[in-house]
Amino acid sequence: MHTDLCDRLGIEFPIFAFSHCRDVVAAVSRAGGIGVLGAVGVTPEQLAVDLDWIDGEVGDKPYGVDIVIPQNDAGAEQQDPEQLRADLLKEVPQEHFDYARKILREHGVPELPEGEFHNGMITRSTSTTARLHAAEALRHPNVRLIANALGAPPQDLTEEIHATGRLVIGLCGSASQARRHVEAGVDVIVAQGGEGGGHTGYIGSMVLWPQVVEAVAPTPVLAAGGVGHGAQIASALAMGAQGVWSGTLWLGTEESEMTNVQREALIAADSRDAIISRSLTGKRNRLLKSAWTEAWEKPEAPDPLPLPLQDLVAGESVTRLQTYPDAAPEVHITPAGQVAGQIKQVRKAADVVIELAEQYLDASDRLVALNERLSGGAS
Ligand SMILES: Cc1cc2nc3c(=O)[nH]c(=O)nc-3n(C[C@H](O)[C@H](O)[C@H](O)COP(=O)(O)O)c2cc1C
Repeated sequence: MHTDLCDRLGIEFPIFAFSHCRDVVAAVSRAGGIGVLGAVGVTPEQLAVDLDWIDGEVGDKPYGVDIVIPQNDAGAEQQDPEQLRADLLKEVPQEHFDYARKILREHGVPELPEGEFHNGMITRSTSTTARLHAAEALRHPNVRLIANALGAPPQDLTEEIHATGRLVIGLCGSASQARRHVEAGVDVIVAQGGEGGGHTGYIGSMVLWPQVVEAVAPTPVLAAGGVGHGAQIASALAMGAQGVWSGTLWLGTEESEMTNVQREALIAADSRDAIISRSLTGKRNRLLKSAWTEAWEKPEAPDPLPLPLQDLVAGESVTRLQTYPDAAPEVHITPAGQVAGQIKQVRKAADVVIELAEQYLDASDRLVALNERLSGGAS
């Protein structure tokens, strides 16, 4: 399964593992794939600590960093994240904060101590914070790619990344988005089908992947959304992708930092439990069904706010549920895709990489055997 992109990045397998957990990123890069660290949930200072740690773990292996800049970027002209947060908070109706707090109060989840840092204090999904993330990433030589979750980064940032010899990667959910990203200078497109975890579009992977490959050729495409088995890698490469990019699969690894409640929900999940909800970021996101997602569907629930405002609403709840997970196991906020239904046990990330490679070979062997039967029958 060695593709041109493997040579460009110096990796053995074209398996890109997206994770917010530095341990997963390091483990996958060490195992011959490439880990990509999601920066959106941490401060730039914490990112610096995490990247230093990964550098110490991976030796000369490459890894990547993922930032989140939407195409409609709120407050792009505001350089100071604290001031931007203060400005954005003015746009959030008190009703939304009250509703989020009511959900947790009704389930008996304790409040955070007064003044405790929580996720809602980070101005996520804005270029103001993401530029600081990118600047930190560029200080680390083993970071060989910078991905933007929501497409092409702003032009000047793309040029800055290119000037350092790194690749710019952009996620998309349709062929037209992919074309726009390439025109804006993106080097590698991640085509994410609607079954995927995190922000997600409407088109299923089976339909999306070949459309995007054709739309942007010869730009390399990574197939994402629903990859949890080596046979799916074989099908992605057969459709012309140069590799796969997966997220949900790595949640079920020993290295992934989830609460026990989230991990149990993941292992117990059926693919149908990975529902679409706007309750976390304001954009369509797949989350495992829980009392949190159900509460936001109730008739009395306020309509989730657009990105990045809903992040500010949900952030405090995310931290409260991570701090007190056992208070109410029925409430959790767990982004995950439909592939959750394929994860039935927790394994080491390196073992997952090896198993994917073995399953890929089995799938390829099946196709070769079919070809041999065909040529045998013809002779
Ligand atoms: C828990 C979780 C969080 C995610 N957060 C981000 C993110 O911050 N940035 C990003 O580019 N993609 C994010 N994604 C999407 C992944 O990059 C990837 O495209 C997706 O997981 C692929 O589909 P899969 O989950 O079926 O493997 C997230 C996915 C998951 C499961």
